[in-house]
Amino acid sequence: MTPLLELRDVRAAYGKITVLHGVSISVSAGQVVALLGPNGAGKTTTLGVAAGTHPVQSGQLMLGGRDMTGANPRDLARAGVCLIPEGRGVFPNLSVRDNLLMMTFTGHSRAEIEAVAFERFPILAKRANQAAGSMSGGEQQMLALARGLATDPAVLLLDELSMGLAPLVVGRLYEQVAEIARQGVGVLVVEQFAAAVLGIADHAAVMVRGRVEREGAPDSELRAELSALYLGSST
Ligand SMILES: Nc1ncnc2c1ncn2[C@@H]1O[C@H](COP(=O)(O)OP(=O)(O)O)[C@@H](O)[C@H]1O
Ligand SMILES: [Mg+2]
Repeated sequence: MTPLLELRDVRAAYGKITVLHGVSISVSAGQVVALLGPNGAGKTTTLGVAAGTHPVQSGQLMLGGRDMTGANPRDLARAGVCLIPEGRGVFPNLSVRDNLLMMTFTGHSRAEIEAVAFERFPILAKRANQAAGSMSGGEQQMLALARGLATDPAVLLLDELSMGLAPLVVGRLYEQVAEIARQGVGVLVVEQFAAAVLGIADHAAVMVRGRVEREGAPDSELRAELSALYLGSST
């Protein structure tokens, strides 16, 4: 099966400093792939490459078997790539409804977008008129996911979804992510701290200093290696 998203031997840099040294990753429809690694490993840059916000120095970015290397973020978004950046990407001073209203640029009506969002995340319906920034971190992350889903993504890129959230909240968010994948979306999840995401991941890659050092099933062997490698006791 052709992967939805494929990075082939990608190098990427900031100025003269190369930070991705030949990264290959692929995500198929319905799959959750976890990209793990310590701070500074290159995870966010990898997502930037996939979303077209960070240029590729060499290598290829493939979408559904098509070479999209060098395409701009708008074209990649049109092709179905949706990045939910670290820090959630919601507008804190706008209400939940208005945050969702902004997604009508996708061509869906406000009613459609709200129906989908409120069905998946009922708490957002209760918070509809509340300023997004006044909600809990978990609720803001739900809103960010709901906004992303309004674009009908083929590929969802999630950067540090769990940042600053309690484990129970993270677990619930990942249940939703798994459900999104079951509906056919390919999901690439970046996390520094691994435990929660490994429970729903089909495949895991461990990135260290701009290289994928290890990848495979998220089994106990990979978990053990992860904690030995860099996560210490936090797994
Ligand atoms: N805007 C930037 N300018 C220069 N260097 C950057 C910039 N953003 C990230 N880097 C560097 O690129 C490397 C990879 O960063 P990043 O992709 O953010 O890693 P991660 O998401 O795994 O923490 C790090 O060494 C980081 O210092
Ligand atoms: Mg990062």
